Amino acid sequence: MAKAKRQYVCQNCGSVSYRWQGQCADCNEWNTLVEEAGETAFSAKHDLSRGGRTLALETLDAQSVMPERMLCGIAEFDRALGGGFVAGSATLIGGDPGIGKSTLLLQAAGRLAKAGKSVVYISGEEAAAQVRLRAQRLGLGDAPVALASATSVRDILATLDSRTADFVVIDSIQTMHSDLIDSAPGTVSQVRASAQELIRYAKDGGAAIVLVGHVTKDGTIAGPRVLEHMVDTVLAFEGERSHQYRILRAIKNRFGGTDEIGVFAMGEEGLGEVSNPSSLFLTDRSRDVPGSVVFPALEGTRPVLVEVQALTVRLASGATPRRAVVGWDSGRLAMVLAVLEARCGLQMGAAEVYLNIAGGYRLTDPAADLAVAAALISAFSEQPVPADAIVFGELSLSGEVRQVAHDGLRLREAAKLGFSRGWGPKGMKGVGGISVTGFGRLGELVDLMLGRD
Ligand code: TYD
Ligand code: MG
Repeated sequence: MAKAKRQYVCQNCGSVSYRWQGQCADCNEWNTLVEEAGETAFSAKHDLSRGGRTLALETLDAQSVMPERMLCGIAEFDRALGGGFVAGSATLIGGDPGIGKSTLLLQAAGRLAKAGKSVVYISGEEAAAQVRLRAQRLGLGDAPVALASATSVRDILATLDSRTADFVVIDSIQTMHSDLIDSAPGTVSQVRASAQELIRYAKDGGAAIVLVGHVTKDGTIAGPRVLEHMVDTVLAFEGERSHQYRILRAIKNRFGGTDEIGVFAMGEEGLGEVSNPSSLFLTDRSRDVPGSVVFPALEGTRPVLVEVQALTVRLASGATPRRAVVGWDSGRLAMVLAVLEARCGLQMGAAEVYLNIAGGYRLTDPAADLAVAAALISAFSEQPVPADAIVFGELSLSGEVRQVAHDGLRLREAAKLGFSRGWGPKGMKGVGGISVTGFGRLGELVDLMLGRD
């Protein structure tokens, strides 16, 4: 008889090991291995090369119908999804606890229900009364959303089978449990098994299902990174809890691009849409302060102006300088610092460097290099960058300033918000009344800012 083997599953990345270890060999996280019921041991009888049926293979040029889309009416949400929810698909939405996932989905569910869709909202975290109170506060008390507080996947599927649903929310997948699996709710095997059943329901029945997932401290969707492979769309809901703005970003999308974002602001009446994010991120900007630079970031086809802030502190020799970054990649900051030191002769090696992207925004656009460099030069030399200038461009290790995509879009957005100078890669053209200064090398920017010839 085949004997079930003891196995340990990493709760962070899902990798399996047959003995307990303090550190996962695959993702290097500590104390993430948990014993879970193993699969039946492999035996020679299981020969997959025999007994199958031949598949009918198809061609690429055959006609296929586009899946049906459902717009929830929250334009920023629909935009991040690439044009609404797709019937028969699964979407995973991840984010820190308290960021507003339940609020956003309740708002979407309410809108869809009011538009005549059949909507089911299952909460595994809150009692139905709590969800109802929130819905009333959001002005959705009269929306015909079918609501239940449940965690058993078997019960949920039985409920869903007894009615037709167009849109189903599972809040959250970590609280769900399948009675086919022995492990506790929240473990990788539970989450994976529960998600699999719920996704199968969506694919078979044609509903759009949304799974809410909590995120671990390193930003991956809790434990079950495995879930990201199982669903069609992965959205990340980001922001600082202490700030109002929230950004909904598509990380994976089988039905659309992953470069569009939705911007929201958390207010008294839930999440409001922000259709002009630039003005939002620049409201508290400190003008004519050394170290502050405005950068026109591009999110998909949408420019968003954000403030890059740098602070440098010269240390007495000997101490190890600190480098701290919020909202940008620390590896890229190290690169920009190295280029400033090696190619432009700025002795920043001994200074402490702090970099912050204002408003809790996370920059991923490579064109931020030049803006960060300008902020660092400005902080280090205590010379402010003109308040009416925006700065962008990618840097190479040799100190060249590289062209970036859509300079026209970036400049036009800046012009709209009253900026009149653009500092960027050589060869770009001024638009919308902005006068541009192009730099071929980072050294030229340093010379301009420090007044060197
Ligand atoms: P919630 O949607 O419960 O977060 P998550 O599901 O991601 O854990 O949002 C919780 C926070 O949002 C909570 O701190 C209160 C705040 N909030 C508002 O500021 N205004 C509102 O109208 C609502 C409903 C919540
Ligand atoms: Mg919640």
